[in-house]
Amino acid sequence: MYYSDVPEAYQSGTSTPDSISSTSDDGIATPATAKSVLFDEFLETFRESGPDFILVIGGLGYIGSHTVWELLKAGKNVVIVDNCCNSYVEVFEKLKYLHSNHLTSDSNKSTLAFHQVDYRDDERMSNILSLYHKTHGIDNSTGSRISGVIHFAAYKAVAESFQKPLQYYKNNVSGVIQLCSKLADLGIKNVVFSSSATVYGELADNGGRLYEQQCNSSGAVGLTNPYGRTKWMCEAILSDLAFSDPTWNIVALRYFNPIGCDESGVLGEDPRGAANNLMPIVVRTMMGDLPELQIFGTDWDTRDGTAIRDFIHVSDLAMGHLAALESMKNIGSGYHVFNLGTGTGYSVDEIVNTMRSVSKRDIPTAATQRRDGDVGMCIADPTKSATVLGWQVERSLSHACHDICRYLRLDIA
Ligand code: UD1
Repeated sequence: MYYSDVPEAYQSGTSTPDSISSTSDDGIATPATAKSVLFDEFLETFRESGPDFILVIGGLGYIGSHTVWELLKAGKNVVIVDNCCNSYVEVFEKLKYLHSNHLTSDSNKSTLAFHQVDYRDDERMSNILSLYHKTHGIDNSTGSRISGVIHFAAYKAVAESFQKPLQYYKNNVSGVIQLCSKLADLGIKNVVFSSSATVYGELADNGGRLYEQQCNSSGAVGLTNPYGRTKWMCEAILSDLAFSDPTWNIVALRYFNPIGCDESGVLGEDPRGAANNLMPIVVRTMMGDLPELQIFGTDWDTRDGTAIRDFIHVSDLAMGHLAALESMKNIGSGYHVFNLGTGTGYSVDEIVNTMRSVSKRDIPTAATQRRDGDVGMCIADPTKSATVLGWQVERSLSHACHDICRYLRLDIA
């Protein structure tokens, strides 16, 4: 449902620079991380609202914020940890706005908290996690109130990963090791990990739909970039961890190409700095912020020569995380991997044409060379997710384009 009463402050265009920002050890811009934001009534509600929280690391980013909103709608209590290196504190304000004004009576008992912290900051993470220790609650029992963790926080720009591989391995891979060690100490063993279709590497170019067993922790073929290798390494580490101790429940979700935004028109995709993925670049071109969209390769072996991807609405993707958490009750412990994609591919040209037709705006394009590390085709086989998780997509490409236009406040009636 589109909310027509959204105050201007919560509409699109969150990209006002944070007043506090610095450059982290990694040389990647990161706002200061000391701040912690809680709802005023949070501590009170915390005591009353029952035992379970979902910790969402990287919960203010594009996929993270959409997942938080779906969790809140499902009545879950959510704790966000995010250092805002590729997101904005304003997104938390938007989530608070949605939480306060647009939950149904069934889900409005959920609580939301945010800690602006780098998830690798050992001391601050310990302090935060201790807040959710059961002995802080009314029942004096031990253990953590965090019943599940969704880990989104990672660097994800492919080109940057070629230039700063150590930073990528440090944040994405060492970070996961450090996080899981901490979670193990606290007995928090239900984890959903953000993986990527990038782990299929050049297998994608074989032309068929990609299914989970084609790439597993014992080997990967033709990974095309350091970012992709960090995702595969994390999968291998998590798989080994689950094998070593069967009390872990770990689900890795391999995302295909998320696009679109929440139908409310409040949340959207707003990367810091230059956009790297197709849809944000389409949008910036459509809005006149970029002169033209460069189409990387028109000589791929596809129906129109441009590359084909499996574009999935971000709200469908977000729902996949709820299904993954839910599945932990019945799929058995261990390590499980699922594709989150639609099973249908659209070409770059088809994306641009659909957006032109929905927005009724011009999007200038220019054909250029293939981009390093690209594959011509990448489409999910979503069968396992449908059968085991009971999850399937509900939204179309056109739906995603409409939602983006609504977020941008374009007149598309
Ligand atoms: C990219 C990453 C992938 C990552 C995913 C996360 C690369 C090589 N891969 O996937 O590892 O998991 O993002 O979202 O970057 N395109 C243009 N012009 C543009 C931008 C993109 O033609 O200005 C084309 C690309 O060449 C590609 C398609 O659009 O064929 C989709 O690109 P993109 O959105 O970057 O996604 P992936 O390449 O699939």
